[in-house]
Amino acid sequence: MLRGVTGKLIMASNTITGRPQLAALALHGGTPVSNQRIQVVAVRLDEADIDAALAVMRSGMLAQGKNVAELESLFAPMSDAAHAIACANGTCALQLAYEPLIEPGDDVLVPAWSYIATVSMLVARGANPIWVDADPVTYCIDVEDARRKVTPRTTAIAATHMYGNPVDIGAVDTLAAEKGLAVIYDAAQSHLATYNGKGIGAYGDAVTYSFYPTKNMTTGEGGLVTTNDAELDVMLRSLRSHGESEKYVHARIGYNYRMTDVEAAIGVQQLKRLPEATARRRENAATLDRRIAEIPGLHAPVTTSKAQHAYHLYAVRIDTDAFVTPDDGPSIRQHFQDALLAEGIATAIHYPRSLTRQPVFDVPGVDHQPVADKLAQTLMCIPIHQFLTDRDLVLIGDALAKVADAYRA
Ligand SMILES: Cc1ncc(COP(=O)(O)O)c(C=O)c1O
Repeated sequence: MLRGVTGKLIMASNTITGRPQLAALALHGGTPVSNQRIQVVAVRLDEADIDAALAVMRSGMLAQGKNVAELESLFAPMSDAAHAIACANGTCALQLAYEPLIEPGDDVLVPAWSYIATVSMLVARGANPIWVDADPVTYCIDVEDARRKVTPRTTAIAATHMYGNPVDIGAVDTLAAEKGLAVIYDAAQSHLATYNGKGIGAYGDAVTYSFYPTKNMTTGEGGLVTTNDAELDVMLRSLRSHGESEKYVHARIGYNYRMTDVEAAIGVQQLKRLPEATARRRENAATLDRRIAEIPGLHAPVTTSKAQHAYHLYAVRIDTDAFVTPDDGPSIRQHFQDALLAEGIATAIHYPRSLTRQPVFDVPGVDHQPVADKLAQTLMCIPIHQFLTDRDLVLIGDALAKVADAYRA
């Protein structure tokens, strides 16, 4: 049954009549694959999380305290790092990590494909971003492109483990050693990811994490830095709390970027369940990988060699040449999103534009990056979280296949 009520829709209907797969879409009145919406993210607190938060609230010791210390002492070894410093959010974590490692005026190699905080906190530090393109396969920073762009004033590289997929750490290490660069990894999306058999906390000068609600584990708002450098650990703790070297002795200008104990109590419980949740995300990804391999024109994420992905997000790449839009309307990706939603599958775009296209960075002469620009048009995130059932995974695969068939060129 077609919904031809306006001129535009009737035009679409005529197109649909000639394409039975298009008419079968729930978007055009067909039967949806799933009667219930499968959400792209699921934020859930367990009773254990709530009990832990309540216990802190009842204790009256709300500010940074023993729960923050417990979260740090659990998180560091789980990431193969020597030290963990919890803080207010992932953006503060970046700001803390950048401050001791980067000086105002330094050139820093940055990914054009990341969340804005990776770069905005560098600019807040007074550094000059040197834009580096994305690797078209892993979506992380292209280390060879970074090498080509090193300037005499380049002192550091900031690299994001995108969507949970570790960057090529071996290549970053080699470049950093050759050019004498500090290395800061943004792992806001990549808790418990590994590289070469070790947690990602084992690598670089500092690694930052976010515990925002949609992340693989949450504290509400929250963040953390790991490092293997004992001096940096002391410095970060000081910067986190007004530059204190001891109580009411302020050795430097610092901030109040502390995490509360209520947040940390939730985090400790979440962290205890994180290995199991991550294992489930990986199983879900393996199932979806198999389904997507059978759908021409769609591409599953590719894990960096020697790495283990944490699947915060599962980004499907749409080969735009493999599909056609039925009208002069929105992009093929928008058609996919609308059609999938009607089938009961929510999707999300991370991100709709590369960082050099953000108004704040898109200044005259900015160095736009073609791969990152292309990713902004062709990636679409589908549900991957640990609460998906086996049936949900079948339905997601069925919906992808149905929609891809409908729009196939
Ligand atoms: C890659 C990346 N970096 C940094 C952040 C900032 O973290 P937060 O939202 O906790 O400040 C995020 C969170 O969205 C992120 O995805």
